[in-house]
Amino acid sequence: MPRSRFVGRTIDSHPKKKSGTSAWRSPSNIALVKYWGKHGRQLPRNPSISMTLSRAFTETMVQYEYQEYPSDSSHLEFYFEGKPNEAFRHRIKTFLDGHIDVMPFLKNVHLSIESRNSFPHSAGIASSASSMSALALCLASIESELLGTEEIDTTKASYISRLASGSACRSVFPEWAVWGQSSFYEGSDDQYAIPVGDYHEIYRDMHDDILIISDHEKSVSSSAGHKLMEDNIYADARFSQARHRMGEIKEHLASGEIMQFGKIVEDEALSLHAMMMCSDPSFILMTPKTLEAIQCIRAYRKENEAPIFFTLDAGPNVHVLYPESIAEETQAFIQNTLGPLCVDGRIIKDQMGQGPTAITEFSL
Ligand code: PMV
Repeated sequence: MPRSRFVGRTIDSHPKKKSGTSAWRSPSNIALVKYWGKHGRQLPRNPSISMTLSRAFTETMVQYEYQEYPSDSSHLEFYFEGKPNEAFRHRIKTFLDGHIDVMPFLKNVHLSIESRNSFPHSAGIASSASSMSALALCLASIESELLGTEEIDTTKASYISRLASGSACRSVFPEWAVWGQSSFYEGSDDQYAIPVGDYHEIYRDMHDDILIISDHEKSVSSSAGHKLMEDNIYADARFSQARHRMGEIKEHLASGEIMQFGKIVEDEALSLHAMMMCSDPSFILMTPKTLEAIQCIRAYRKENEAPIFFTLDAGPNVHVLYPESIAEETQAFIQNTLGPLCVDGRIIKDQMGQGPTAITEFSL
């Protein structure tokens, strides 16, 4: 796909619409093979694959007004959960101003953005995948309204999401998505994610219960974490490990070999954390309770021969993955044994989702 496809057209003096509203609900996603390390304009050092979630989502509504005389930068107001939020406004403005080449219409519009999350901001779970994909979908919709093109270009929305927050580009698609060029996935690309349709029934509606082990801000931001990979002496080995695992996970997804699938998923989480431990400076992102949850999950799996696995983002919270077929008994174990390890017993019970939807009003 030629790169020029994503460089937006300038709006002529007769836009198809002069004002309007675009609103999207977009979910978070959990990576199974992890992206950790980037270069250039937010390009990944290795491919990744994720499962799109459904209950952890962001709703974003963007109102736009066309301004005849273009300006050099974007103009916007930003409200988070109903209140003006200067820190978020600044972050979004920096992002938009840095990407006017991709969205030239930004020079001709005033934007009023409001965003809400389905999960508490303090839950310690990353919100950038859902929030940035929701915003990107609104921007892609506004661009197509102004240009009078028929439909929103989902791949462009994925491309814009990636520029805002790498992992967000995978949230644009339902079920499973791959981001980053991989010889195992035809059509995969570093610039945007692609949907993955081919998977075994056992993974349908897979659960992801997120154990809120800590609700503190992350001790290291993703950007700082990615940067640490630049000088990590194990970086090349890590990137080739991830590339190789894309092939293995593809095989296990298609064949339904869920125990093999889970082995890779757990290894991936530990590899990501190992990279942070041996970075300079070093970060230990797990807490004793993270380790306790991991040990309990492994013990339960062994004792019950149950396909239950953990994965981690770059933080202490634990994602517990299991198929729908064992949901009832597994949820009792999670509630009784893992619940006490969580802040106020808090668990976000999430599941595979069908991707973003356009909305007309906030549901939150
Ligand atoms: O999208 P970022 O820059 O917040 O990076 C996210 C990286 C991980 O969540 C740790 C892994 C991944 O692939 O989502």
